[in-house]
Amino acid sequence: MGVEVKNGVSHPNEAYGVLPQYHSKSAKIRVACVGAGASGLCLAYKMGKMLEPGSWDLTLYEKNPHFGGTWYENTYPGVACDIPSHLYTFSWDPNPDWSHYFAYGPEIQKYFEGFAKRNNSEQYMKLNSKIVEAQWNEEGGKWTITIEDQVSKELRTDWCNVLVNGSGILNNWKWPDIEGIDDFKGPKLHSANWDHSIDFKDKSIGVIGTGSSSVQIVPQMQKVVKHMEVFMRSPTWISPPFGGGALNELRQESDPGDRQYEFTPENKQVFKNDPEYLLQFRKKIEAEINSLFGMYQQGSEMSDAFREVITNEMHRRIGLGNEELKKFIIPKWSPGCRRISPGDGYLEALVKPNVTPVFGGIKKIVAEGIVTEDGKTHPMDVLVCATGFQVAFKPAFKVVNNEGVTLTEDWADGPNMYLGLSAPRFPNFYTIVGPGATWSSGTLLPSIECSVEYAVKMMQKIQTLTIKSLDVKQEALDDIYAHFDEFHKTTVWQEECRSWFKDGKAKNRIYLWPGSTIHFLKTIREPRLEDYNIRYKYKNRFAFLGNGEVKAHVTNDYAGLAPYIRNSDHDWVIE
Ligand SMILES: Cc1cc2nc3c(=O)[nH]c(=O)nc-3n(C[C@H](O)[C@H](O)[C@H](O)COP(=O)(O)OP(=O)(O)OC[C@H]3O[C@@H](n4cnc5c(N)ncnc54)[C@H](O)[C@@H]3O)c2cc1C
Ligand SMILES: NC(=O)c1ccc[n+]([C@@H]2O[C@H](COP(=O)([O-])OP(=O)(O)OC[C@H]3O[C@@H](n4cnc5c(N)ncnc54)[C@H](OP(=O)(O)O)[C@@H]3O)[C@@H](O)[C@H]2O)c1
Repeated sequence: MGVEVKNGVSHPNEAYGVLPQYHSKSAKIRVACVGAGASGLCLAYKMGKMLEPGSWDLTLYEKNPHFGGTWYENTYPGVACDIPSHLYTFSWDPNPDWSHYFAYGPEIQKYFEGFAKRNNSEQYMKLNSKIVEAQWNEEGGKWTITIEDQVSKELRTDWCNVLVNGSGILNNWKWPDIEGIDDFKGPKLHSANWDHSIDFKDKSIGVIGTGSSSVQIVPQMQKVVKHMEVFMRSPTWISPPFGGGALNELRQESDPGDRQYEFTPENKQVFKNDPEYLLQFRKKIEAEINSLFGMYQQGSEMSDAFREVITNEMHRRIGLGNEELKKFIIPKWSPGCRRISPGDGYLEALVKPNVTPVFGGIKKIVAEGIVTEDGKTHPMDVLVCATGFQVAFKPAFKVVNNEGVTLTEDWADGPNMYLGLSAPRFPNFYTIVGPGATWSSGTLLPSIECSVEYAVKMMQKIQTLTIKSLDVKQEALDDIYAHFDEFHKTTVWQEECRSWFKDGKAKNRIYLWPGSTIHFLKTIREPRLEDYNIRYKYKNRFAFLGNGEVKAHVTNDYAGLAPYIRNSDHDWVIE
């Protein structure tokens, strides 16, 4: 009564035969992940924790010579998180040692390096290995991936049953689309590719952009350069610090509007010695951020109150005079339309004598500097572009489905991604916080974690339910997008601000989760298999039932043979 299995898949014309295995035995699965940033590290950890030991293989392909992603690549002066550091850890892995309320980039990179070391994550990594193509083969239930060695430029292939895209939404930096960008004769830098060999002392520089990167670079450069012009095409909201309530309990005599705070040795000792205190401190900040979701509803009481508070605070920080700056930089659109930044020292820097804000668009770049739309030439020694990324509305590598259609072709009308995770017609492929996830509000790490857990839960289903492949149904996506469109009719994101949330446009479909981070987590905690097309390895969907035994029979686990016999009605599981 056995069943013949070729390449892990039964032949469709063969008669059904009972599998010689216990109920839901985990089949071996091979997984590849694009990237070893926070997403890749989290995936390695969660697979180790959630999957049956010995039942899986994982390779984290990383294009860089080192892991860390965002925090390895972004080393510009002032780079820091805009979310309190204590929330910028994996949720189960607090760090009592953060030096600042908003940790600087190198310390965040150190956190991820420490995490990788503690969890032996490097064993899964192949560095300098860029995935350039992934091609699905339905018959074999496999992705064939092509990898380009970043040193030798040689190509090789590998395969996997499940492909996880952890390549980051803000990983692909780009030069701004400005005429003459290559004509500038001096050094030209991008925020995400900083050249640390350049000496800025006594130089005149230009910084393009008013996004979060520029907001962090400007106060640092102001302290060093002879003169700086900041080219501002759009206004921006600079907010008081998130989680201010928790912060104010710690610091005694400082200005409540201060964005940054250096934890004292005593603070850190308390965090270390009293894990319960640290937990409550973290919970308080996260709850505060989740409670503020109402501000993203246009015209809500919270949005209006926020606008008033931030406007007053920005006026106060800019100080007396500087009316032109105030008029330009305080947006007409509501707070949150673009990502809000705490902007430590930014407004203060803009009004320093060696800084000149330049309002409006750029016409072109010439050898000596920038020509603005009013025809004026602004000469400079160094040009800094804090002009953002090619946002990952679709992967930067080629993904091809069983019909030979690329994801780019399939998405000709725009992203088509369920919960930021799954794409119809592209089976066994999970993206971590793709379009539709919570890009705007709060910290991204809990969404990364839960998206990773979702992908691992889908792997568990594949392993234990004798599934060959599954892809999300288009009808499920059509429904969720109908909900997005309806929901976003009244959110601040649809106002006339240009942002990377809308692919650098002022008007576009809004691919942001229609709810708070906690609302997103609740949605993706349990995958809805009913939203997926499932194809099984064997003719019979119940092949996983096997020979009538459960795992405890095979492992001689007597307790495991009676888990439902108990003294009270607590939950029980059969392995
Ligand atoms: C300057 C900056 C500051 C930020 N600050 C915050 C913050 O304060 N709070 C917050 O919540 N979020 C912040 N973010 C968002 C941040 O990107 C996420 O929090 C998080 O670090 C993303 O992790 P990730 O692993 O998904 O992506 P990434 O960190 O981008 O890592 C992706 C990895 O994939 C690799 N990769 C990409 N393509 C390929 C390929 N084809 N083949 C192989 N490898 C590939 C990359 O080299 C990279 O190592 C910030 C982003 C930037 C750019
Ligand atoms: N932790 C942090 O504080 C932090 C720091 C950095 C980045 N980040 C994350 O990364 C995201 C991206 O931030 P970013 O600042 O790198 O990029 P960004 O938010 O996309 O900002 C890019 C800036 O460059 C300007 N720009 C682009 N092309 C231009 C052109 N041709 N002419 C004139 N101006 C031009 C944009 O102007 P317009 O607005 O007019 O388009 C914008 O002000 C953030 O939203 C955040 O999520 C976070």
